[in-house]
Order: sequence, then C-alpha cells, then structure tokens
Amino acid sequence: LIKEDEYKFPALQANLGFSLLAFIISIWLIPKVSESFILKGLKGRDLLKSGDKLNGPWVPESLGLPCASLYLALMMLFIPFPFSHLFKSHSFSSPETFPQRELTLYLSSLLSLLTATLLGFIDDLFDIRWRHKLPIPIVSAVPTLLVYYSVGGVTSIVLPKSIVGWLSSIGFGGFMKGNIVDLGPIYYLYLIMLPTFTTNSINILAGINGVEVLQALIIAISISINDLIFLPIWSINLLNLFGFKNPENGRILNWAIGEVVNRHLMSLYFMIPLIGICLGFLWHNWYPAKAFPGDTFCYFTGMAFSAVAIQGHFSKTLILFFLPQIFNFILSCPQLFGLVKCPRHRLPSYDEKTNLLNPSKVLFDSSPPKKTIIVLKLLSILKLVKLEYDVDDNNNKEYIKSSTNLTILNFLLIHFGPLKEDKLCILMGLIQVLGSLIAFIIRYGVGSWFYGG
Ligand code: UD1
Ligand code: MG
Repeated sequence: LIKEDEYKFPALQANLGFSLLAFIISIWLIPKVSESFILKGLKGRDLLKSGDKLNGPWVPESLGLPCASLYLALMMLFIPFPFSHLFKSHSFSSPETFPQRELTLYLSSLLSLLTATLLGFIDDLFDIRWRHKLPIPIVSAVPTLLVYYSVGGVTSIVLPKSIVGWLSSIGFGGFMKGNIVDLGPIYYLYLIMLPTFTTNSINILAGINGVEVLQALIIAISISINDLIFLPIWSINLLNLFGFKNPENGRILNWAIGEVVNRHLMSLYFMIPLIGICLGFLWHNWYPAKAFPGDTFCYFTGMAFSAVAIQGHFSKTLILFFLPQIFNFILSCPQLFGLVKCPRHRLPSYDEKTNLLNPSKVLFDSSPPKKTIIVLKLLSILKLVKLEYDVDDNNNKEYIKSSTNLTILNFLLIHFGPLKEDKLCILMGLIQVLGSLIAFIIRYGVGSWFYGG
C-alpha cells in the first residue's frame, strides 16, 4: 500500500540528527556567551530570589539570540536534505521537475523567522512600546501569507450542521456551500493576526524561571505529534489505537500520498530541531536560572509556530495548542488595554521568609473608576482575581484597595499557592499538556465538525 522510501524519511532522520546537534550545541553555547551578554548590558536581576535585589548577581538576558541564531544556521544547513532524493536521480537540474513550491515554503518561513528574531532583539534592546510592536509581526507574516496564497491556501471553514441550519434560517444561506463557508479576506485577516498573537502571548506568559521555554517546548512537541498523525505509517495505527476518526473522512489513500504529507513533513523539519533548542536552553533556564530567554526567544519561537501552521494549513489546529495562552491573554486584557493599572512587572511576588511565591498585587491609591470596579468584581466572582477592600475615612465607604495581577500564574497561585518557583513552573507545564490533550480531543474527536483539513 505505502512505500516508505517515497516519503523522504531519510531527510527526517537527518532532521533528528540536526535536532540532537541543536540540543548539544545550545547546552555548550549558552554558558560560553553569557559573560559577553552581561558585558554588553544584556542582563537582568532575578526578581524572585532571596538576597539584595539592587546589588545581587546579574543573570544574562536575551539568550534567545544565540538560540535563534543556532536554529537558523542549522535550518539553513538542512535546506538541501528534503531535496536530496533529487540529487541521486539528477532530475534537480530541470527547473520544471524541481519542487520549487516546497523550497519557497521553506525559504519564506526562514524569512519570517529572521524578521521575528530581529524584532525580539530590538525589543530586548529598546523595550519597544506595545502599539509600535504589534504591527511588526504582521509585516513579517506577509511573505508567508503570499506563499500561502500562491499554493491555493484554503480560506473556508466547515461548520456543524446545527449552526448551518440556524445561519440559513436567518438569511446567511447564500454564503455557504453545504456546510462549508468561504471566509475569503476574513480568513486572511485571521492569518495576519496569528503571528502577532503567537509571539506576544508567549511573551506575556512569563516571569518565572523556565516558563517561556517550557511552554514553547510543549507546543513544539504537540505540533510534531499532530504532524506525525498525518504521516501514513504512524497515523493509521495511532488513530485506530485511540479510536479516533480518520481526519480526512476515510480517504486514507488520497491523503497518504502527496500534498498533505509534504506539508506536515515540512512542519516536522522545523519543529524537531526547535524541540532540541528548547531542551538545550531549558537546561540553563530551569530554576534557578543561569540565563534568561528575553523577548528574542518568545518572538522567534512564536513565529516558528505561526509559520509552520500557515504553511502546513493547520492554523486552526495551532490555535488549540495555545489554550493556556488564550486564557492568559483574555485575563490580561483589562491590564493590557488600560482599564486596570498595569505595572512594568506582573510576575508573582516572592516571600523571602518562606522561599515561596504568592500572587502579586496591583494597588489603587484611591477608589478606581466605575468601569474598572465592574470588571474587577466580575473577575472576582469568577474567582479569577482576589480583591482587597478598605474603608475610606472621609465617607466611610468601602473601596477596592488592591487586586491580584491579571495573569494565569497569579490565578494559579490564588488557588494552589503559595508555591515554590519551580513547582509553579511544573504546574504551568502540566496545564499546557492538559491544554494540548484537550486540543487533540477537539481536533480529532468533536473536531470533524469544524475542521475540513
Ligand atoms: C513581560 C510581562 C511582565 C513580566 C515580564 C517578565 C506583560 C504585559 N508583561 O514583560 O509582566 O514581569 O514579562 O519576564 O505581561 N525575570 C525574572 N525571572 C524570570 C524571567 C524574567 O525575574 O524567570 C525578570 C528579570 O528581571 C528580567 C526581566 O524579567 O530581566 C525580563 O522582562 P522582559 O522580558 O523584558 O519583560 P516583558 O516581556 O516586557
Ligand atoms: Mg519578555
């Protein structure tokens, strides 16, 4: 039925080798360059450790830069491998037979990654303002999107029958073909926003040792597992084992050969070495951290996820692997958009005596505006924040004195804390894994409603 050598598995084996290299070299490289980063002023104090916060030891910052550089170098060296089967048959000499499309996909992804790394590093150097940094991932996504368009990227989504019936009844039937809705430009708008979300959402789920890298690692592993499902040899067995429905409605033979496999292979080529980099860097970033990732790391990994998902046509599945980040982003909105005061750092607060972390607070000097009170009270009812009240001496009225900062880490500490820093990071990792499990259940369980491939 399926011949193994048709699927360029030798390139996949080489890719595993590159991943191992990425792991070993990053373990070796980070301590080598740390001192130079501190000398150049790329350094920060670990805010959640005991000792003198003003004169304590420096931790090198922005080590996402050597990680991204190593990753990009390895990915460039890897370019010939997916095409190596052509060298043997000498067919590469003809432009007609060379798979230009795959090469373009590969190169445009690298271009987006380079831009994201540059943006992250500039952010580390100059602390760019929110409104300035939001549009930049949009620009860096343009090459990827044009390539998506050029390969006839889908812009339609599949809706459940019940929703189709309801939409038809209110007069939107004309926009649908069966239960497929073509979103056209709106879908491109979603794709344009995707890199902005993936890059920034990792950057704001931060502040404790290891947490940025651990989430990137788990997302990269989740994407790889999803890719492996589409490789025929694994998928048939795996899907049967877990009793899932075949994602392409039983057309095993069709999707086993050709486009879909190639797209997911391309994604694997990018994700497997990224796993190596994340593991290698986590070695130094794990509690107590010897190195900080900086915004460079968050931007470069976030862009890697967007690029493979857009190129691999699984951008809707990707967003499911970001469930904890979506939660953290929505919870953060009142602070990000100025409804609630947003301090420079929202990371948990450290208790010197117990060596444990507690939720950090944002303090209000006087009673906050009405809009803010409504939002905070609502969040408090939902048990997402903890409020403290005080009584105004002048009019004897109760007012909100403080609220916990609106992040998932503080939310976890409200319910499970106080916790030691590494325990909180492990808990966050477990939640990310749980999120991915839910993502797989949605995608392959109930997902046949929503996902047309
Ligand atoms: C984002 C968060 C901010 C959080 C910060 C921590 C938003 C809007 N911004 O800001 O609330 O405080 O990340 O990374 O949510 N640090 C530690 N321990 C760590 C990691 C970082 O103490 O494990 C401190 C160090 O002092 C380091 C600094 O955070 O120098 C890095 O902060 P940076 O990444 O520049 O913050 P932002 O991304 O702007
Ligand atoms: Mg950051």
